Amino acid sequence: MEKNLERIKATELQNRVVTAQEAAAWIQDGMTLGLSGFTRAGDVKAVSYALVERAKTENFKVNVFTGASLGSDVDRLFAEAGIVNKRLPFQADPAMRKAINAGDMYFLDHHLSHTAEWIRTGAIEPIDFAIVEALSITEDGMIIPTTSVGNSSIFVKHARNIIVEINTAQPELFEGIHDIYDTGTQGERDPIPLTSVDQLIGTKGIPVDMERVRGIVFNHQDDSPSTIMAPDLETKVIADHLLNFFRSEIEAGRLTEKLAPLQSGIGTVANAVLHGMIDSEFEHLEVYSEVLQDAVFDLMDAGKVDFASCCSITLSEPKMEQVFSEFDQYRDKIIMRPQEISNHPEVVRRLGLIAINTALEFDMYGNVNSTHVSGTKMMNGIGGSGDFARNARLAIFVTKSTAKDGKISSVVPFVTHVDHTEHDVDVVVTEQGYADLRGLAPRQRVEVIIENCVHPDYRPQMREYYEEALTRGGQTPHVLEKAFSWHESLAQNGTMLLKKEQLV
Ligand code: COA
Repeated sequence: MEKNLERIKATELQNRVVTAQEAAAWIQDGMTLGLSGFTRAGDVKAVSYALVERAKTENFKVNVFTGASLGSDVDRLFAEAGIVNKRLPFQADPAMRKAINAGDMYFLDHHLSHTAEWIRTGAIEPIDFAIVEALSITEDGMIIPTTSVGNSSIFVKHARNIIVEINTAQPELFEGIHDIYDTGTQGERDPIPLTSVDQLIGTKGIPVDMERVRGIVFNHQDDSPSTIMAPDLETKVIADHLLNFFRSEIEAGRLTEKLAPLQSGIGTVANAVLHGMIDSEFEHLEVYSEVLQDAVFDLMDAGKVDFASCCSITLSEPKMEQVFSEFDQYRDKIIMRPQEISNHPEVVRRLGLIAINTALEFDMYGNVNSTHVSGTKMMNGIGGSGDFARNARLAIFVTKSTAKDGKISSVVPFVTHVDHTEHDVDVVVTEQGYADLRGLAPRQRVEVIIENCVHPDYRPQMREYYEEALTRGGQTPHVLEKAFSWHESLAQNGTMLLKKEQLV
């Protein structure tokens, strides 16, 4: 790998350049690593690959803490090499998912804004090595991150050792868009001084204690592109329903056409929903989110979004090519922050975000499951959805009303795992319509959810369940012995449809 020493402006660090293999050799069995990387963006690649290579001849396990999911196949390679003891706070890789669900590794599914507090207070394993991707190191020893900030700044601050991986493939134009702010210790800290989406409150890089920089590795490799699917008919209809909801909020005087800063979750559905705003009347929009997916840049291109704050940028291949080659036209409209700040409940509440996240399933009272398939199998993790939902001006959850060709209803009598309780959920949306749950008691919520969100194939059995539940009474009526009967039917018959005549 060609060394580009100009990227190490702190000249006293220039003699610390090592190969990825040398750096990987420092990592010992049982250590805890704090790796940069957030939803496939800005992950450390060369040292990670070297670690996987080492695992071919040596047995070791490490704890892997990151910002969120890793790209560049790193989560897959780590899982397949069997080198992960404990992983937090989020992943989204099929092979790692399989290892987690097989019990081959531990996974801590954690609110993304909370991990920094655990590290600060020492509630989890101390970080032996922070290994972070960088564009460069400044004269005064600040690490300039690349396409994500994630948890890198907290890892660097608290790690015993630091390895910096300078990736010369990442766009240098990214220098200047980062805003690194440390909240300080709980009980002693000031309010976070962020009162608008476009405000800079910190430093342009991660301050680093040069003494602890053990090595610097060079690499030249693009981030791996996102894998989201293009909007389809159903996700377009979901977007239309959401836009109609916003219109009714404007009519009621609670929003203007500028709406409020938008947060949008990860995945195909959330991206499609934002995409739906392109042809709408809404303008001068602002985004305060964790990941910027393709849709935000499309909205900027369409002149709809004025400013976006994030902690990572994750794009499809063609969008990455376009955005990175024309980054000059976006750089004044973007700030990238640590995930503790992009997701901070204090800021979310102050700015009054509209938070749009995706549910795997929700129930007739409005509880949302975003993480566990049929209550036991981890999908990806809660990510930042809880950081945002509980404190947002509007906590909105979207999903298609059915999955797997109609064999699964995404609206069920009782969710098999609760990530967002009925108390945290304002509006649920499927392609059938939206249900505004604000101000409704549980039994009132059931009516609007069945009418507006449940797929017609599942409405009769939902009504039947609810009517039986009503005979039992209670504030939140249920027939407990049948609450998971739809999931049991899925496991036994391959469909949640309960009546034989409904089976296809
Ligand atoms: N039961 C079982 N599987 C379901 C399901 C359900 N109720 N609903 C959807 N699925 C499956 C889909 O069939 C699809 O499977 P496939 O990958 O085999 O095709 C998969 O889940 C993804 O669903 P999709 O409809 O394509 O949605 P998505 O890409 O938008 O992802 C989540 C949806 C919920 C998995 C994703 O948004 C997520 O992980 N969210 C939690 C974290 C989060 O919200 N982070 C953002 C905070 S800022």
